[in-house]
Amino acid sequence: MTEDAPRTLDEVPGWFPITDQELFSWFLAGPAGAASRGDLLELGCYLGKSAILLGRHLRPEETLTVCDLFESPAPTAANDSEVKGSYASLTRAGFTRNYLAFHERPPRIVQAPTGEILDHVRPGTCRFVHVDASHLYEHVRSDIGAARAVLAPGGVVVLDDYRAEHTPGVAAAAWEAVFTRGLRPVCVTGQKLYGTWDDPAPLRDGLRAWARGREDWWMEEQDVAGAPLLRLMFRPRSRVPRQATAGADHGAGAGAAALPRRTAG
Ligand SMILES: C[S@@+](CC[C@H](N)C(=O)[O-])C[C@H]1O[C@@H](n2cnc3c(N)ncnc32)[C@H](O)[C@@H]1O
Repeated sequence: MTEDAPRTLDEVPGWFPITDQELFSWFLAGPAGAASRGDLLELGCYLGKSAILLGRHLRPEETLTVCDLFESPAPTAANDSEVKGSYASLTRAGFTRNYLAFHERPPRIVQAPTGEILDHVRPGTCRFVHVDASHLYEHVRSDIGAARAVLAPGGVVVLDDYRAEHTPGVAAAAWEAVFTRGLRPVCVTGQKLYGTWDDPAPLRDGLRAWARGREDWWMEEQDVAGAPLLRLMFRPRSRVPRQATAGADHGAGAGAAALPRRTAG
């Protein structure tokens, strides 16, 4: 471990709000996660902020695959301008250094455009896919198709930046997937949409019951095009007491707040 390695997830650069850190933990290690089987996949890992949390929930028999361009060329001019504009300081070495500050072994790294991910991950093998690579419509549309192909029955996909002002292509691809490609939303946060291609009711019911019992979660339910959709936000009064009590009953809460840096040796 090098001197400048991060000590907490907060020190890892990236875009991964505390609400989504906690929800990833619920989906991966809460009641629904405990029942699900399969590998984990992240399309777009940058410097590891969300991948480190995914690795926290990896079971011994599972594989976490991350796919990113790192220093490789982007497949299209628009994608090239996107990555040069937003991720210029990204290196594969930087990702690996950050990840290994928290975990014994690196994940499986696919350094390639996400359009090639189906050459590396077999259909129907994953329980959780985080789509967070290019935010341009054509790429996100393709990534959503890949997520559908690799997810096992009951698997969960998370779409980043489905509603941000600067990412209209993600919004278009996300709602297109809902209306024409069978994606069933479970919940949304300020930054991410969580969905499945199977029956969303067990996930939604479990999440609703879990969030209702917790003072530090805000929840609202809306009907969207004939289906219930949960809106969720984590509002801890303080992250300090949460660290002391995290993970007691349901797996969620064992996310970033409880994520220790790996000790040397
Ligand atoms: C928003 S960042 C990922 C953030 C990360 N998940 C986190 O929570 O910190 C997007 C990443 O996608 C990568 N990326 C962009 N276009 C890509 C493409 N076509 N194929 C693979 N990776 C791509 C970028 O290099 C960047 O690291």
